[in-house]
Amino acid sequence: MMKTSRSRLGGCMLLCLMGWTMASRAAEPTANAASDASQAQVLIVYYSLQGNTQQMAKAVAEGVQRVDGVAVRIRRVEDCTAEDLQAADGLILGCPTYFASIPGTMKLAMDDWNWKWKVDFTNKVGGAFSTGGGQTGGKEHTVITLLLFMLSNRMIVAGPLYEAVERGTEWGEMGSSAMTGPLDPGVSEGQRDAARRLGERIARLTRKLKDAR
Ligand SMILES: Cc1cc2nc3c(=O)[nH]c(=O)nc-3n(C[C@H](O)[C@H](O)[C@H](O)COP(=O)(O)O)c2cc1C
Repeated sequence: MMKTSRSRLGGCMLLCLMGWTMASRAAEPTANAASDASQAQVLIVYYSLQGNTQQMAKAVAEGVQRVDGVAVRIRRVEDCTAEDLQAADGLILGCPTYFASIPGTMKLAMDDWNWKWKVDFTNKVGGAFSTGGGQTGGKEHTVITLLLFMLSNRMIVAGPLYEAVERGTEWGEMGSSAMTGPLDPGVSEGQRDAARRLGERIARLTRKLKDAR
């Protein structure tokens, strides 16, 4: 009797563990793997500890997927390889704001891409996104810091477009960001929309440039 309930308990624990593993895999952003050489390749690389920036990365990927002839790949910065970077025609970087700038993990990785890995970023199209807990905590500075890395590495940078057709207003933005702190927790639909517009713009420009080569 004792043995039966123990093995039931063991089975239950195993199922729970499998469920947890599957749930954490399901939470990973998905994207179609770059496969066809004629397609333009957009790579999204992000750093995220608590999941907010990961949500933004997923929305950026959705925007890329709006554009025909473009394949998207998503990598955590910890998993990104030199081959991933070299293969990309477009590169979109995202990270949280730490002390009004980019986290050290992101900076160390980016330094290595150039300094140790010798990746040639010339004429890749780039865009950036960020999250930050505060309203005025440095989210834009984080975006600009990512863009400055790209400019220093001979890339062509762009941000999302906004067009309110009914009001006849339109403008450009330098990137996309989400406020995630207690005053506005998580990533809102409007912030996801901005992330999708970023992905779409970078994908369109990447494809145009690839077609022109
Ligand atoms: C060490 C540390 C420093 C932070 N500094 C800032 C900051 O200067 N400005 C800000 O707006 N948010 C700051 N935050 C909040 C994060 O940027 C915010 O929670 C972000 O969405 C976390 O991203 P993640 O969920 O992808 O890890 C900081 C968080 C940590 C852990």
